[in-house]
Order: sequence, then C-alpha cells, then structure tokens
Amino acid sequence: MARILITSALPYINGIKHLGNLVGSQLPADLHARYMRARGHDVMFVCATDEHGTPAELAAAKAGKPVAEYCDEMHEVQAGLASGFRLSFDHYGRSSSRQNRELTQHFAKKLWENGLMEIRTERQMYSKADGRFLPDRYVEGICPECGYERARGDQCENCTRQLEPTELIEPRSAISGSTDLELRETRHLYLLQSKLRDRLRDWIDSKQDWPVLTTSIAKKWLDDGEGLQDRGITRDLTWGVPAQFPGAPWEGMEGKVFYVWFDAPIEYIGATAEWAEAQGLDDAAWRRWWREDEGAGDVRYIQFMGKDNVPFHTLSFPATLMGSGEPWKLVDYIKSFNYLNYDGGQFSTSQGRGVFMDQALSILPADYWRWWLLSHVPESSDSEFTWENFQASVNKDLADVLGNFVSRVTKFCRARFGETVPEGGEWGEAEEALIEELSRRLKAYEAHMDAMEIRKAASALRAIWAAGNEYLQSAAPWAAFKEDPARAAAIIRLALNLIPFYAVLSAPFIPDAAQAMLAAVKAEGTPWPGDVKEALAALPPGHAFTVPAVLFAKISDEQRAEWQERFAGKRE
Ligand code: 2FM
Ligand code: ZN
Repeated sequence: MARILITSALPYINGIKHLGNLVGSQLPADLHARYMRARGHDVMFVCATDEHGTPAELAAAKAGKPVAEYCDEMHEVQAGLASGFRLSFDHYGRSSSRQNRELTQHFAKKLWENGLMEIRTERQMYSKADGRFLPDRYVEGICPECGYERARGDQCENCTRQLEPTELIEPRSAISGSTDLELRETRHLYLLQSKLRDRLRDWIDSKQDWPVLTTSIAKKWLDDGEGLQDRGITRDLTWGVPAQFPGAPWEGMEGKVFYVWFDAPIEYIGATAEWAEAQGLDDAAWRRWWREDEGAGDVRYIQFMGKDNVPFHTLSFPATLMGSGEPWKLVDYIKSFNYLNYDGGQFSTSQGRGVFMDQALSILPADYWRWWLLSHVPESSDSEFTWENFQASVNKDLADVLGNFVSRVTKFCRARFGETVPEGGEWGEAEEALIEELSRRLKAYEAHMDAMEIRKAASALRAIWAAGNEYLQSAAPWAAFKEDPARAAAIIRLALNLIPFYAVLSAPFIPDAAQAMLAAVKAEGTPWPGDVKEALAALPPGHAFTVPAVLFAKISDEQRAEWQERFAGKRE
C-alpha cells in the first residue's frame, strides 16, 4: 500500500467557480484520489479556499461586507458546492486559518535566517483618488509581453507571465479606474529566489516523467529568468498573514501582510494540519505527510492545477520549501491542464459567461457533469464545452450504454426469474470471450488511470461498458429464454454480475450512480476487481437485487436549447 498526497489548486474565495475552473484542478484531483483509494492506497487529499489578497478584498468591498465575514460566507458556499460535486477531500481548509498563518510566518523566518530574504525600499503605485497603495491586482493595464489590455498587476491571464504592477503599460486603479497614480516609497520583504536558480533547475531537470505542459512552462520561466527574479513577498494591505509578528527577525513591517501567492501554496500544508486538528489528532499526524524526517519519505505527492498556476508550483513554492533548509516534502508529479472554453468563446467570471458550479447542480446531478468534464478534460490542448456535445455524450454514454444496460438486465431478470440472481445453465464461448475482452480492457483502464491519462481512461471505461452491451445484444437472453431458460439464466447471471463490476470501475467518475448500482444489487463494499472471472461470479445464484430507478435521464432538445439560451448571457 502506497501513501499518496494529493492537492488541488486552491480556488480563490471571491465568488462561485465555473466549470472551467472545476475541470482544471479539483475534479481531476478527485478522480485520482477516488481511484487511488479504491486501489487500496492510503490517500490524503486536501484543498482549501484561497482567501487572502486583493481578490478577496475587492469582492468583499463589492458585496458591501467586511472581508472576514465575506470569506466566512463564501467558504461555506464553496464547501457546499464541492460536496455537491462529490469532491472527496479529506479536508477542505481555509488559507486564513491559524495553521497557515503560523506556517507562513515560520517559512518566512527560515528564509530570512538562511540569507534568502532582505528588506528593500521600493517605489510603488499609490492612488491619490483611492488614498492607498495599489498592490498587484488593484492595478490593471496593458501586458508588456503580449499587449493584452486587461492584464492584472500580478499576472497576465492571457500569456501567463508573472508581472509586477509597475511593469504594466497605461496602469489604472482597479478600484476607481483612476489613472492618477504616482510612485511612492514603501519597504517590503524580498525573497531572493535567484539564489535558488541552480537548485531549482537541477530539481526540474530530474523530473523526466512530468507532462510536457508542466516542464515546458517551468523551463520557460527558468531560462528567461522571469519566474526567478527576486520578488517582493509583502504588500501594503490589512487582509492577510501579518508580516510583522512576535519573533520575526526583522522590524518595520507593521501594517503589511504576505503576498497571497506566498501563503496560498503553504496552505496545502496548513490544510493537512487543519485536518489533523479536526480529527483530534496531534501534529505528528499531519507532519508524516509533509516532513521527510518525520515519515513523509515514502509519500508520493501529486498536484493538480491549470497551466496558469504552473510557474508558482514549479518555481515559487519549491523555492520556499527548499529555501527553508528543512526537509519538507516536494511535489513528485504535477498534472497541469489547458483551458476549457465555453460554446465558441471563453468561460468568464467577470462577464458571467458559461455555467457556474451552483447553476450546473441546479439543472442536473453531479455525475452528468463529472462524466462530461472528465471525459473531455483539456489535457493535451484546450477543449470546448458545447451543449450539443454535452447532450450527445450524456444521452449516449450514460443513458444509452450504461443506464440502459442496468435497466434492461434487472428488468428482464425480474420479469422472467424474479428479483434474485438466477441459477442454472453454463457459461460458454461467448462468456469466455467477454471475460477475456474485459480482462484486457481492465488492464488498459488501470494503466491510464495510474498514468493520469484521463481522457484515455474515460474511453477505456466507455469501452468496458460497451462490451457488456454488445455481449447482451448478441447473447440475447430474451430469445434464449424461449428455447432454453437455463441458458438465459446463465447469461443474465453474468449480466447482473457486470453491474457491481461496472459500479466499482466507474465510481471515480460517477460516484452517485455507482453507489445506486451497488445498492440495487446489494453489493456495497465490492472491492476493485482482481481476476475478472472471479469478480463476475461475486453475486451467487439466489442473491437478491432490486430494479433501480432510472440512472440517467436523457437530455431533450428542448432542455438543451433552453439551457444554451439561459447560460449565454450575463449571470445575475
Ligand atoms: O489561480 C487560482 O485560482 C489560485 N487561487 C490558485 C492557488 S493554488 C495554491 F498555490 F494555493
Ligand atoms: Zn500577457
């Protein structure tokens, strides 16, 4: 049994996330966590809301609420939606937690002690109209790299370049829109990342098995030096982890907080510490996942994120961990994703374009979305959500292939043999061929799931479902029943056994339907199949079952047209 630590990029607290956000980190992370647990591994899967910095302040101001209160409320909303999508976090934490504050201050102190931090006086954007300094996201302007007109002061979302607010062309205040900005002096803590360049390069070079998307972004920033310039890691803000604290080895940082991108990844550790506290466990319980000297030596750590987050996870966060001089667990594998587009354009939070997590669940259960999103995850290139494709995929894969199989088999058996697994008859060539095919397809499915090749895994699973349908179609128990009821019994016995087999394999993708299937055949707790032939004899003759309610309803053309219209425009 392996120990596997899984983290998903932390969603910003400011507002409900759209399906493009969900598919780029939390959902694939959940797929992997569920699969690894099903394979018997010891999994720690954490996520949290990313609550600090300007996005939270701006959103709270817009909502007319104190920022702490806004974050309390939005955390609950996001946690509720995560559970609605069946994201199986061991803990869903908050970057504003005590644990994260203590860890963030600890890392800063260590970095200072190791000569990797210093105080620099810099000139920063000050808005006279707003009466305050404008850090990172409070400044918008034109990207110096690609010319994108709405680049933010921390990063250009168009070309992913990390930015300083002063680099923007034609800068303006994101609060008031004022262009009456001037540079004023302010003192900040700087992280001397450039001193870690060689160590980071060696570390990234050692990751031969990482996806090209991940390493190409990491190397681009390493080679350009862009991602490794010394960076100011404090801001003139009140909301965040205080940069001046008892025991801090520096002075004069009152009224400043750490930059949100400094404390956010540290919350991966913080969330695990929050988990331990929630479980009533001591610090050793979380440290064994994170400290190589306290048990994390055999942990495999996998991170999931969208491509815009890659520079922070391949360079900045490892720099924090390495620079501490302490044996913290570094990531072993980064699975990164391209973007999901929406119906001929982009998902957009600011324009309310696309389907947001709450809206999605208000029209269909989680499994419908999970299946489409995971089977179309933007792995090797950007992908696009269209309502036509969503309808076709739900109706065909889920309703016609999987749902229909379960319904036909259980209803036929109930009508001819009653609600127990029938006895009699023998398996013949057709059954042997099916078992051989399923054994081969199961291996392929496992290999893709192990390798986190999600689209290929979804295709392999679909092929497993289809194999059962084809078998049923050609074995035709309804025809056999007239001539040879024992033969029909043998066929239906195998087909009924395919239900728990499918449920267990499908659970990482569609956990609710899988549970309903297992409940129908009273086989909760069925383990991951080892030998297919044995797995298909798990339900013995006489085992009771019930016909489940419809697993997946088809999406009608009218529904599709209505939703397409409803989600095209601006969100309320
Ligand atoms: O891009 C984002 O949505 C960030 N909130 C991701 C943070 S990931 C981690 F470092 F916390
Ligand atoms: Zn740009």
